[in-house]
Formats: sequence, structure tokens, C-alpha cells
Amino acid sequence: MSDIVILGSGNVASHFVKAFSTCDIRIRQIYSRNSQTAADLCKVAKCEYVSKVDDIVADADFYFFIMNDEANAHIAKQISINSSSVAVHTAGSQSMNIFSGLTQNYGVFYPFQTFTKGVETDFSKVPICIEASNPETYLSLDRLAQKLGCKTFNIDESKREVLHLSGVFASNFMNHCVNIAEDILSDNNIDTNIIKPLLEQSSYKIINHGAQASQTGPALRNDNHTIEKHLKLIEKNAQYSAIYRVLTDSIKTKFNK
Ligand SMILES: NC(=O)c1ccc[n+]([C@@H]2O[C@H](COP(=O)([O-])OP(=O)(O)OC[C@H]3O[C@@H](n4cnc5c(N)ncnc54)[C@H](OP(=O)(O)O)[C@@H]3O)[C@@H](O)[C@H]2O)c1
Repeated sequence: MSDIVILGSGNVASHFVKAFSTCDIRIRQIYSRNSQTAADLCKVAKCEYVSKVDDIVADADFYFFIMNDEANAHIAKQISINSSSVAVHTAGSQSMNIFSGLTQNYGVFYPFQTFTKGVETDFSKVPICIEASNPETYLSLDRLAQKLGCKTFNIDESKREVLHLSGVFASNFMNHCVNIAEDILSDNNIDTNIIKPLLEQSSYKIINHGAQASQTGPALRNDNHTIEKHLKLIEKNAQYSAIYRVLTDSIKTKFNK
């Protein structure tokens, strides 16, 4: 049975801890600077919490660095682990070479999915993008992902960066646009729930017909009268106006309007 040390106790760490704990993969320790969030995760994993890098065991099979890029790189330089152990991070745009001075066996275990603490995730729908320093490490990471029920993809650093960029547009920016829509509704005393059927149908169309075929709206129709009305409604918010203009121009360019 494999054992794992988790470093970090944020969104992704919380989902991995839960997923590993439910599929017979032992979590040995959770390292975190945050005692409260770490204590919550240690209860789920029934494991020890450590707050000092020096207290991290050296002989676990896997070390999952699930912090931000800076902390991953910084702590990789501070800890020492056995040369046979595997160190990975879960980041979209960080090189696996941050671990080259730590062990011979290292890589990336990047989940191309969005995770928020407390919001259920179905791991059978999480593509895991793997990169590794050698074929044996790749295989061990692939087996670990299979145990979680995930599909795996052999993705090198340059492709992973592109994937991450596409995820920022498809998920982070889309989420922010919906957030703006919700703010506009509540600022005008309209129940934000009214937007949910629109979001469901938009996702359905994108998934089943593709984004290009699913585009509608005033920019696509080149309806400049409506566009001017909308800009007037948000004229007091310079950022919303700028985002509206940039996206409208992008749609017009894409569809040659
Ligand atoms: N969230 C996603 O949807 C998602 C998807 C795919 C990949 N990822 C990747 O997964 C990794 C973690 O993302 P996340 O969303 O889980 O981030 P997060 O929720 O912000 O959690 C980051 C964790 O790192 C800790 N941390 C930050 N700076 C630190 C430092 N200097 N020293 C020690 N610990 C530090 C935080 O501790 P505190 O609680 O004390 O701040 C927290 O436990 C990132 O590499 C991210 O790119 C995220």
C-alpha cells in the first residue's frame, strides 16, 4: 500500500486528501502552515499534522506539493526525502524541475479541473496530466491516478502551460463574467437565481455543439444600438465597461462583423 505526505491544506489538498483516503491510499502526514485547515484534513485522513519542515518524514512513497508556486519551490529546497521517493506538484504553469535537487523521481500530477473546498468533486471526471523525470515514476503516478478513478494524460510542460491558459479562459474568466452578471442583477434588485437556467443551457450547448456554434448576442448580430445601451448602463464602472468592450470586439473580430 502506498503512503503519501501532503504539503498544503487548501482547495486542491482538501479534495486529494478525501479522494486518497477513500481508496486505500494511506496519508502519512499533512504539512501546513495553517493549523486550523490542516487539523480538519487530518481528521478526514486520520493522520499526523506537522507544521515544521524538519518534522516531515523522509521515507514516504509520494510527496504531494499542493501549495502556491512560490511555496512549492521554496519548501522543495528545504526538505530532504529518500532518493527513491517521488515528489510532485499539482500546478499548471510550474516546471517539475523544482524537484531536481530533491530526488531522482519527480514530476507533475496536474488535475485539469476546478476545485473549491467543500464543493463535491467526481474524480472519475478529473483528467490528470502527468509528467515525470523517468518512465518508472510516470508509471507509479499513472497507477495512483487510476486508483482515484481518473483518466490520465501524458502532457509535457509546454502543453501543460497551454492547457492551463485555456482553463483560465474556460473556467476562471467565465466564472468572473458570471460573477459580474450576478453583481449587476443584485445591484438592480433582481433575484440572481434567474440566471441559472441560462447557465445550464449555455453549458449544455457548449459541451454538445461547441462554443463557436453556440455564440449568440448583440456583438454577433452587430447590434450596435443595444451595445451602446448596455455600455450606458455600466458607464459608472470602468472595469465592467472595459471588459464589455474587449469581449464585444473579440466576438465581432471572430465572426467578421
Ligand atoms: N483550485 C483549483 O481549481 C486548482 C486546479 C488545478 C490545479 N491547482 C493547483 O493546485 C495548487 C494549490 O491550489 P489551491 O487552489 O489548493 O490553493 P489554495 O486553496 O490557495 O491553497 C494553497 C495552500 O498553500 C499554502 N501556502 C501558501 N503559501 C504558503 C507558504 N509560503 N508556505 C506554506 N504554505 C503556503 C496555503 O496555506 P494558507 O491556508 O495558510 O494560506 C494553502 O494551504 C496550485 O499549484 C494550483 O495551481 C489548483
